[in-house]
Amino acid sequence: RDMALLEGKKTRCWTFESELIKGNPESLQQIAGSYLGPIIKVDKGQKIRIRFTNSLPQESIVHWHGMHVPEEYDGHPNDVISNGETYVYEYTVMNRAGTYWFHPHPHGETGEQVYMGLAGLLLVSDKEEKKLNLPAGEFDLPVVIQDRSFNDDNQLVYLDGGRMDKMMGFLGDRICINGRANQQLDLKAGCSYRLRFLNGSNSRFYKLAWSNGDPVTVIGIDGSILESPKKLPYVMLSVAKRIDIWLDLRNKKQGDKLELKSLAFESGMGGMMDGGMMGGGNTRLPLGSEYRLFTINLDEEGSNDYSLPENLVAFKKLDPAKAVNQNNPREFNFFMERMQWTINGRTWEGTEVAEEETVKLNTTEIWQLSNKGGEMMGGGGMMGGGGMMGRGNKNGGMGNMMQMPHPIHIHQVQFNILDRDVSRVEPALWNSIKDGFIDEGWQDTVLLMPGMKVRVIMEFKNYKGLFVYHCHNLEHEDMGMMRNFLIE
Ligand code: C2O
Ligand code: CU
Ligand code: CU
Repeated sequence: RDMALLEGKKTRCWTFESELIKGNPESLQQIAGSYLGPIIKVDKGQKIRIRFTNSLPQESIVHWHGMHVPEEYDGHPNDVISNGETYVYEYTVMNRAGTYWFHPHPHGETGEQVYMGLAGLLLVSDKEEKKLNLPAGEFDLPVVIQDRSFNDDNQLVYLDGGRMDKMMGFLGDRICINGRANQQLDLKAGCSYRLRFLNGSNSRFYKLAWSNGDPVTVIGIDGSILESPKKLPYVMLSVAKRIDIWLDLRNKKQGDKLELKSLAFESGMGGMMDGGMMGGGNTRLPLGSEYRLFTINLDEEGSNDYSLPENLVAFKKLDPAKAVNQNNPREFNFFMERMQWTINGRTWEGTEVAEEETVKLNTTEIWQLSNKGGEMMGGGGMMGGGGMMGRGNKNGGMGNMMQMPHPIHIHQVQFNILDRDVSRVEPALWNSIKDGFIDEGWQDTVLLMPGMKVRVIMEFKNYKGLFVYHCHNLEHEDMGMMRNFLIE
């Protein structure tokens, strides 16, 4: 579809064209002028059927990010269909209320397909959420943040930096909000809003903060509504994650403006940056620089009577004592080897699963996810300990190591974060982001900064089968930083 995103020539995008065949029209909403797919609204317990017909010139398959579904409906890369074929999904929604999303998942082409516009929100509601009387209708607003690059002809440009763009992850220099290129939201003074943020970017992540210095009030994350609202000076929104933010505009007047910014932080990208090989990384809008995401215009006054509940949804963390491997967590290490991003030294293998990637149905497990920072490129083994934690360029030159943040995502489950070990994270880096994490609730993606180690706990239930876990930096995923795990 050709979309009017910028002045002048239209931009060719790939979109999910949708049509409701049966059900409630409210459950399928298109954002006007957006390349994004429809917002699909469902209730827990509801059975849904979705027919996906591929009209792309490439193979594809749709994945329901964060959803607990049977193997055949998870959008495994092995289930891709060709142009003209149809895949029918049919499942009962078992997830808690939360903000989920969908996007293509073919191996090697996810980055391009998402970048061209293929993504959408899937909002789940349940009884607990309904009792809270959270802002609804026009006051429950999606805010999907994505970075793009356009050429002089207004067309999307992807991976123009070639191999380095893939290695480092693609960064665009223009922020799109809700599938539109104008960084404006029109809200009403006098009202309260629930803003559902999704970082739908390929590799860029954000440090969200209000320009007036107000704290950011978070009420939900990934597959959960929090137990109580959290006020933070800023929030880290890593790739693929969702954060629900409460915005109170009751003391604002018509004509006021408010900006949401991404504040400066240490990005943790290292290795080749100072060696001059960073050509692919975006220099016009570097990761970790400060910039405006969007402006909220309050051109109208209104009123609503939503107030922020003190208590939201009760949360009971999974008990580590129930884990079958309480004292012996499975270890997954994310690092570069032989110029490849790997998980425990391996890359994607279509149907293969290693022994450490096989779990049992009806068990609770602890997984330890570690970003092992850099490796000496072109030879040396992993550098242990503090040595690698510098910015990576301390050893100078090009033969040095490479380290990057990796947002790690596990399909099929929502997990709890048990702890985050930052003892090997460079202090300046950690200090620049440390107040922006929420380690509560049910989550499906966790940002691993270089040197960081996170333990997560999850339960494998209901469905056996082959699922994937991967880095959600889509260029890394496409390069093979993705593996199967088997629930048997
Ligand atoms: Cu959002 Cu496997 O992906
Ligand atoms: Cu997913
Ligand atoms: Cu990665």
